[in-house]
Amino acid sequence: MAAVAATGGLLFGFDTGVISGAIPFMKLDFKLDDSQVENITTLGLIGAVVGALVSGWVSDKAGRKNVILVSAIVFLTGALWCGFATSIASLLAARFYLGLAIGIASFATPLYIAEISPAKIRGTLVSMFQLLITVGLLAAFLSDSFFADNKNVSSWRPMFYVGVVPALILLIGMFFLPESPRWLLSRGREAESRHIMEKTEDPSVLESEMARLKKDILEASQQMSFGETFRQKWMVYPLMLAICIMLFQQAVGINTIIYYGPSIFLKAGFEGNEAAIMASVSVGVINVIFTILSLFVIDKLGRRKLYFLGMGGIFVSLLLIAGCFAFLPHLGDFGRYAIVGAMLLYIAFFAVSMGPLAWVLITEVFPMKVRGVGSSIGSLSNWLFNSIVVWTFFKVIKGFTSLLGSDDMGTAGAFCSFALVAAIGLVWGIKFLPETKGMSLEDIEKHWKNGGKPADLGKQSAKI
Ligand code: BGC
Repeated sequence: MAAVAATGGLLFGFDTGVISGAIPFMKLDFKLDDSQVENITTLGLIGAVVGALVSGWVSDKAGRKNVILVSAIVFLTGALWCGFATSIASLLAARFYLGLAIGIASFATPLYIAEISPAKIRGTLVSMFQLLITVGLLAAFLSDSFFADNKNVSSWRPMFYVGVVPALILLIGMFFLPESPRWLLSRGREAESRHIMEKTEDPSVLESEMARLKKDILEASQQMSFGETFRQKWMVYPLMLAICIMLFQQAVGINTIIYYGPSIFLKAGFEGNEAAIMASVSVGVINVIFTILSLFVIDKLGRRKLYFLGMGGIFVSLLLIAGCFAFLPHLGDFGRYAIVGAMLLYIAFFAVSMGPLAWVLITEVFPMKVRGVGSSIGSLSNWLFNSIVVWTFFKVIKGFTSLLGSDDMGTAGAFCSFALVAAIGLVWGIKFLPETKGMSLEDIEKHWKNGGKPADLGKQSAKI
């Protein structure tokens, strides 16, 4: 069940990543300039913000399964609409529409997986959602490179059509899956809920799990309102953590490489769109490999060590990318390969740390009663900062170019500004990043209520 539902993660990855290989061809086909490219990419993300915003509410009313089914239909029709788009306006509208499905999937899929999973393996199943995002990104890069044809400016169209296949898998697969037992119980449909739980739960814990679910649902029904949440003084830290961890995850520029990878490689001097897309396939492969590695180390190393290791590596590799661009005219052929190398290093450090860490942290730092609202604020923050970075990237390059005199120096300047964000993130982390490894959510909640500071979390768990 989790595997079928996680196709939602695959689609999230595929449909955000597919744009990267399509852009160089769309640029030629529609004679787009950089700011139009930013608009097309960003409208997809704004669609995701809207999708994430409404899906929490709709999934409470209509059920998780129905929301995922609707997202599969939007994924399917959106892929076709994007591929058939005949004007810039229809492309913009199609990307926004597809973005809605991405936003819905980013919220509803992990929620559904968490709710159908037995407690024992819930963590693993939910973190596999991030893994499937990276697999989806890789699939997009591979299919982009398969269809890229320098002699055919329309070769971006089939890149989008491929998205129909995973959307169909999700639609058909989801049709046969049951509704979330937790949601059914919350609607008073206990018999149906029990029937599903009998299939997914170990019989020896079935009764205690049903009782726990009932208790959870009762607590959730007493959940504080959005306004009340903000008024709790001790909620300042978890809220700040959820917003900031997503800010740093996005503002180090991850998606400029994920979405604009081929465009950056073209700037670095690779010839032909196909070569550039091949270079970004390697970005996708490294992303998947190091995300798998993170699943093994996240609970062993703990959150803080992983954060500093990852952010430190991100900082250094961003400076390397910037340095390579700055000295590109003197480095010759070596320069562009060095850029690919530095980008792969950057992706490896991101994938092993900030990628999964941010998603894990936003589900950990909130007390049970406000976890739903809290983690949706985290994912909104993710889409919002993602949109801002992606929408401004080429503008920042342009700004630096006019300041520093060349396009290469302009690109170097943009990556230096991401490095500055990473440096600020490192300093922020010293003071604020919590160590939640091995702590129960109740202990975390007590820590905030007792006026504890984020960096003392974990250290004081023994006292509590
Ligand atoms: C981020 C996405 C990013 C992906 C790359 C996720 O954790 O939220 O914005 O595209 O990682 O693997």
